[in-house]
Amino acid sequence: MTETALPLTPDYDAWPIEAHILTVESSPRQVSVRWSDGRVSRYHSIWLRENAADETTVNPATRERILDLSTLPAWPEIGSVGIDDSGALCIDFVPEDRRLRFHPGWLRAHDYDNATDAEAALIPVTTWLGGPDEQPDSLDASGLLDSAPGSAAEEAILAPALESVLGKGLVRLRNLPTEPGSLEAIARRIGPVRPTNFGELFNVRAKPDPDSNAYTAIALPPHVDLPTREYHPGLQCLHCLENSVAGGEAVMLDGFAVAEALRERDPQAYATLTRVHWRFANTARTTDYVWHAPMICLDTRGELLEVRIADFLRGPLQTAFEDVEPAYEALMALQRLLREPGFAIRFTYQPGDLVIFDNRRLLHARDAFEGDSGHRWLQGCYLERDEIRSRYRMVQRARRQRRIGAEDR
Ligand SMILES: [Fe+2]
Repeated sequence: MTETALPLTPDYDAWPIEAHILTVESSPRQVSVRWSDGRVSRYHSIWLRENAADETTVNPATRERILDLSTLPAWPEIGSVGIDDSGALCIDFVPEDRRLRFHPGWLRAHDYDNATDAEAALIPVTTWLGGPDEQPDSLDASGLLDSAPGSAAEEAILAPALESVLGKGLVRLRNLPTEPGSLEAIARRIGPVRPTNFGELFNVRAKPDPDSNAYTAIALPPHVDLPTREYHPGLQCLHCLENSVAGGEAVMLDGFAVAEALRERDPQAYATLTRVHWRFANTARTTDYVWHAPMICLDTRGELLEVRIADFLRGPLQTAFEDVEPAYEALMALQRLLREPGFAIRFTYQPGDLVIFDNRRLLHARDAFEGDSGHRWLQGCYLERDEIRSRYRMVQRARRQRRIGAEDR
């Protein structure tokens, strides 16, 4: 076959060719590809047909699908297969009588026949314990705002920061500016900010007539922010502008590690907290946010998805009568774990520190501080987990593009 240029892929990404297609076999509804490293990957004819990159399948302007499979004359089946001079897989589909070509790098990267859940995760989740000697992953970010967006200098700071947040749920960037409002420009290097009724940026400092315990000098127990929302924010940023008070040490716990410990030590309490819906409420003079949800939420595979813990935002429990005592027993088992010092990382904010953490996984807390001993001013904002995942995929795409560029030279 005479095609020498690789075909398009149905996306904007870059797919280096890690292995070449050596041989290909087919039956009407399956293709089996043998790669140069010995791997064998099977693909279904219908999967291949809908993932073609031609203009009948994907809008070339948007790379979004335009093919409606149910409009095909019949189930797409394979007439003949081959490998062209570019190394692409070529398939003649019947009954459309259409030849479509598939990029080997893209095919290999989407090899569902050999995929594992671990490979599907961007960065594997690693739970952690705290203790007196532990500190958050910390990075010098002094050059971040001076770096050009998308540049290698930006990536050198952002990539390890994103990896820490995706894997451990937490990173501390240091040596950032301390001008009020600079957080917004920093956060936008990751993605758009999620506004709430507390504003786009909120100021964490003691103030008169506070509408949250956060805006006082009292201690805050371990909590996530805004569990009172159907979808509580996936990321929280806290940026220290001033900190000269006595006290006010920051505390961070991995809510997933606490949940795993509860599952081991008290499986019944764990099961109860994954099942019973608690009422979370934030009632103020002009707003009234309420949501009902379990404290530990699992995904469809039974893996930890999020925790929703904030004792000062818990409203009156409204659940089945027979669930009330087991629910409170489980709650207290969890609260005893939260007080164990072995889970907590403790640190003091320095001006210019920015802590970014997964607000649906980590719990944050602070010690009380003496309000008249100095000034403590943090600015905060929220983003979504989607933003950090998208940003990290863009880092990976840039790395793959560089690899292809290096191969072409
Ligand atoms: Fe908070």
